Amino acid sequence: MDILIERSHHVLSMTFNRAHKKNAITAAMYQALADALTEAEADSDIRAILIQGQADVFTAGNDLEDFMKHPPTSQDAPVFQFLHHISHASKPIVAAVAGPAVGVGTTLLLHCDLVYAADNARFSLPFTQLGLCPEAASSLLLPRLTGYQRAAEKLLLGEPFDALDAHAMGLVNRILPATDLLSFAQAQAAKLVQLPAASLRATKRLMKGDQHAMVDERIAEEALEFGRRLQAPEAREAFTAFFEKRRPDFSRFS
Ligand code: COA
Repeated sequence: MDILIERSHHVLSMTFNRAHKKNAITAAMYQALADALTEAEADSDIRAILIQGQADVFTAGNDLEDFMKHPPTSQDAPVFQFLHHISHASKPIVAAVAGPAVGVGTTLLLHCDLVYAADNARFSLPFTQLGLCPEAASSLLLPRLTGYQRAAEKLLLGEPFDALDAHAMGLVNRILPATDLLSFAQAQAAKLVQLPAASLRATKRLMKGDQHAMVDERIAEEALEFGRRLQAPEAREAFTAFFEKRRPDFSRFS
């Protein structure tokens, strides 16, 4: 299973489990995540959600090969189901990030409530480097979180940044030694479990409720542009270069 789903002590844990491909996310994995979030929403026994990878990798983001072969064209494509469910989750979501968190590995954090990073975490939003554009409403949420210039630096240049930078931007609540990350995130989820679930849901709804329409709209707008960019020669060059382990050459594209 490329996504492990576990239920323990009222927490539903979703673990990326495709380490040999740096947990790159395929359509089937997005579907598994979307289904788990749907189940968590409906199951009153679940009071918090935890999302994690391994000690050396969170996720390398979209699986580039899967993306080239099966571009997500329709609104109900697994990636959009996942984004819908994570952005509308009424229960608190805790994320534990170690190692690379690329693309959606970083943008999904904008939809989590408590984000903890290991000191080896490395975030990146390489959309322009891939000839693409932001997704998961990150073009809306990142500038709101960090201010325009800091978001622009991350989204225009697409260069990786470390946990200290992510913490300074407000993307991460706390940085921990890699060995302590998971137990700390689990302990935070356990604290949430002890609190009145209805109060947590109300607090989250009050903080995020008025954003939902805007986030839905932006996800849809980004998806249209992303779909167009995915078919364009710049993306083909970038993806081919990645698998050929060379630098892409965008000089012939204006
Ligand atoms: N899609 C598909 N395969 C991926 C992948 C992705 N996003 N990320 C990594 N892989 C595969 C590599 O092709 C490689 O496969 P191979 O062993 O069959 O050659 C394997 O995972 C290991 O990756 P590698 O690049 O050797 O690991 P690394 O530790 O040197 O670097 C990353 C890790 C995450 C920094 C690097 O793999 C990377 O930049 N990946 C692409 C990230 C990306 O662009 N994501 C899309 C965002 S929209």
